[in-house]
Parts: sequence; C-alpha cells; structure tokens
Amino acid sequence: MKKRFKAISQLVAVFATGLITLSSCISDPDSSGLEYTPDMYRSPAVEPYVDYGQVRNEINDSLKVLQSSLRPPHETIPYFGTDAEYVSMMLPYHRKASSAANVSHGLYEKEGWMLSDSLNTEYEKAKADKNPIELTEANSEEIFKEGKRIYSSKCQHCHGEKGDGQGQMMVNGTYVGVPDYKNLQDLGDGQIFYSIYYGKGAMGAHSMLINKKEIWTLVHYVNKFRFDDYGNFDVEEAPVADSLNTNEEVSDSLESAQ
Ligand code: HEC
Repeated sequence: MKKRFKAISQLVAVFATGLITLSSCISDPDSSGLEYTPDMYRSPAVEPYVDYGQVRNEINDSLKVLQSSLRPPHETIPYFGTDAEYVSMMLPYHRKASSAANVSHGLYEKEGWMLSDSLNTEYEKAKADKNPIELTEANSEEIFKEGKRIYSSKCQHCHGEKGDGQGQMMVNGTYVGVPDYKNLQDLGDGQIFYSIYYGKGAMGAHSMLINKKEIWTLVHYVNKFRFDDYGNFDVEEAPVADSLNTNEEVSDSLESAQ
C-alpha cells in the first residue's frame, strides 16, 4: 500500500512538473510565458491626474475623488540643493487662498487650504509682492528659456504660444475665457504668482505641479508677453522699471514674503 502510494505521488509529481514546464513554453518568442503573479511584474501605474479610486475596473469608493497629484503634506518644504535663495523660495507661501480657489478644480478646503475670510483681500495684497528672482542682463536669456520650457508644457495649451489666449484648448472650443496677457497691464507680479499658485476663475491651481521658483520664473515669462520691452536691456531707459526689482527689494521680499 505504502509502495503504491509512493509510486502514485511520484507519477503526480512528474506529471505536474511536466505540465508547468510545458505551460511556460509558448510559441511566441516575445512572450514572457505564463505569469503567476502579474501584479508583481507589472504593478498598476499610478498616473498623475488620474482618479485612482478606479484601477483595473476595481472601484475603491474611499479613493474615488482623490487625484494622484496631491499636494505634499501640509507645511512640508521641498528641498533642493544648497542655494540659500532657492531654498528660501521653497518655504511655505505666506498668502492664504482667496475665495477664488473655490472654483479651482475642487481643490478648496483641502488640508492646508485656509481660505481668507474676506473676498480676495490676499489677492489684492499680493499686488505689492516682488519677484524674488531678479531679472538682469546676464540672466534674462536663461530665465526666459526656462520660462518658455515650463510655459510650453503647463500653460500654452490654454494661453497660446504668443500669450494671446488662443491656445489649442481655446481654438478648438474646449475652454473659454482665457485672457490675452497684453490686456493684463495692471496686475502686479505678486498677483500673477498668486493666480498661478492658487488658480483663478476657470484656471486651476498649479502649486502642486510646479514649485515656487518655477512660478516666479513664469511671472517673468508672462511679463514678456505683457510688456513689449520687458527684458530688453538695449533700450535707453530701464525696461518697465516697476516690474523689476532692485537688489534691496529682492532680499526684503525673500525675508518677508517667502
Ligand atoms: C486650463 C486652462 C489654463 C491653464 C492650463 C492655465 N491657465 Fe492661466 N488662465 C486661464 C483662464 C480661464 C484665466 C482667466 C481667469 C479669470 O480671470 O477668471 C487665466 C488667467 C491667467 C492669468 C491672469 C491672472 C489674474 O490674476 O488675472 C495669468 C497671469 C495666467 N493665467 C497665467 C498662467 C500660467 C503662467 C499658466 C501655466 C502655469 C496658466 N495660466 C495655465 C486658463 C488657464
């Protein structure tokens, strides 16, 4: 009886091994063969802006409204490099979200989004905030190049390559109400920062997509569309003096604003 059992189990073992070996031989040379744990080879990719309450047809209601591009935990500071100016630019933004953030892609009332009590006061105050990145003859080319790089991936589809509000989304009718930068002559640099950071009207917040240094770089780039001579150091008088910072203002604003 014992012998017989041994023989049977040996037969089963041989048969099973053969089956496993055969089943992994698939005629397609590009096939990876039979996978027993596909999730370990190919974990479901978590992509930005995707509602990942639904992954592979499985619905997880508690995650349903969360987007994968979330803000970092409240009061954490992304830290890059050792450049003091750059690091101080990464400190939490001192201005609260105005009520304008209410319509910014549902991002309002998330942790850390403290709405200011009265309508748009912070936005008005932001008018006086200076750009901590000073535009000089030496760095302007580099700043505009970097601005163009960020702008073309994050802004151009709405605002247009020429900043005239005729981006692809406007042209094909997906979006409406994108302004021509030329018509925004009265905005302060800080307000542009504020609007990009928290969003304004139909424009969503960008604070979780680009960091403060990138936003201030974009402020210079947007100014180039707003003012013809912006960043043009060949002209006799100082170009758009109001929008440029003196060194003193830069260090002031770094201390107080950032
Ligand atoms: C999805 C389309 C869209 C994208 C993307 C977008 N914007 Fe806007 N933007 C708008 C709309 C619409 C307005 C008008 C908002 C209003 O005044 O109600 C606007 C307004 C602005 C303003 C004027 C803000 C003010 O205070 O009046 C600036 C400056 C601006 N956008 C810059 C940018 C920059 C820089 C980017 C890229 C980081 C960007 N926008 C991305 C649609 C967009």
